[in-house]
Amino acid sequence: MVDLSVKIGSVELKNPIMPASGAFSTDLAQVMDINRLGALVAKTVSREYRIGNPTPRVAELECGMINSIGLPTRGIGYFLDHQVPDYARFTPPLVASISATTADDFEAMTREVAAHPDVDVIEVNISCPTRNPGGGNFALHEDHTFQVTKRIRGATTKPVWVKLSPNAGDVVAIGVAAEEAGADALVVSNTILGLKINIDTFRPAIGNKFGGISGPGIKPIIVRMVHQVSQRVKIPVIGCGGICKVEDVVEYMLAGASAVMLGYIIFRNPSSLVAIIDQLAEWCHKRGFKRVAELTGAMINDPIAETFAAAAAPIGQGHETFVPAG
Ligand SMILES: Cc1cc2nc3c(=O)[nH]c(=O)nc-3n(C[C@H](O)[C@H](O)[C@H](O)COP(=O)(O)O)c2cc1C
Repeated sequence: MVDLSVKIGSVELKNPIMPASGAFSTDLAQVMDINRLGALVAKTVSREYRIGNPTPRVAELECGMINSIGLPTRGIGYFLDHQVPDYARFTPPLVASISATTADDFEAMTREVAAHPDVDVIEVNISCPTRNPGGGNFALHEDHTFQVTKRIRGATTKPVWVKLSPNAGDVVAIGVAAEEAGADALVVSNTILGLKINIDTFRPAIGNKFGGISGPGIKPIIVRMVHQVSQRVKIPVIGCGGICKVEDVVEYMLAGASAVMLGYIIFRNPSSLVAIIDQLAEWCHKRGFKRVAELTGAMINDPIAETFAAAAAPIGQGHETFVPAG
């Protein structure tokens, strides 16, 4: 028997496999036993009703998909009155993902959402372009990340997970800022900004022009970020980006992730979410691991490669980038 349980701060998960925000709904109970998941992560909710972005909102890529959904939501009232009770029919902890345009509203939303007894964790989506003024993205700047996280931290004693953006120039600095402001865990990460053009129509393939890329193509980039961030922070890091099979889960954990979230693959093959849990137990058993948590950060660092990596130039500089909402 392999112990698949992991701890994300004070939150105990029976296994490290969770759906990513925006990729999951309780309708999936038709094709899987939702109670087997490590946690349930809801679609991002904001205060007001949002209609979302113009269609088409998604397009296929060779390496995954590009989306700009625009965070459609019926708003916080509907979420608390209808969606949370729907999730509460299932046993895994519920992670509510919140978005806001200002630090004030993030704080107020946190108070309201965290007050619901069936919400176990607040995931802070600062990695979509909701910031007012400017439609920017809080997770592109250390100071914005710090300020928002600090306000959220002050508004609840429930665990706060901050979801970072791979579009930040220096994702490590952003992760450190979130930790210093009191985050309990980091989710690395949201989608990578991209553009697909339809060469028959000469128009962007999706209605909002730019979109966020997810799926297998982004995996090595996010694995690298998970590794870099987890080396610098003490809080747990949750890996998210392009996970399609059990080997990807293992790779993220070796890089430093304590748990993972799956998005793209749910659209391709929803039931794989649960199949991967069994495959993870099998993978550990075959290799003699009694606890999956032993994999976290177990990548062996070659000292020579480390010396070269330390001398390399920093990857990008923090600059403002417009990132479409997922
Ligand atoms: C259609 C779609 C909708 C998404 N909606 C959200 C969302 O509401 N909130 C959020 O934080 N991330 C959202 N994401 C990003 C995913 O949660 C995840 O971070 C990203 O897709 C990378 O994981 P993947 O490569 O496994 O898909 C969305 C992604 C997709 C593809």
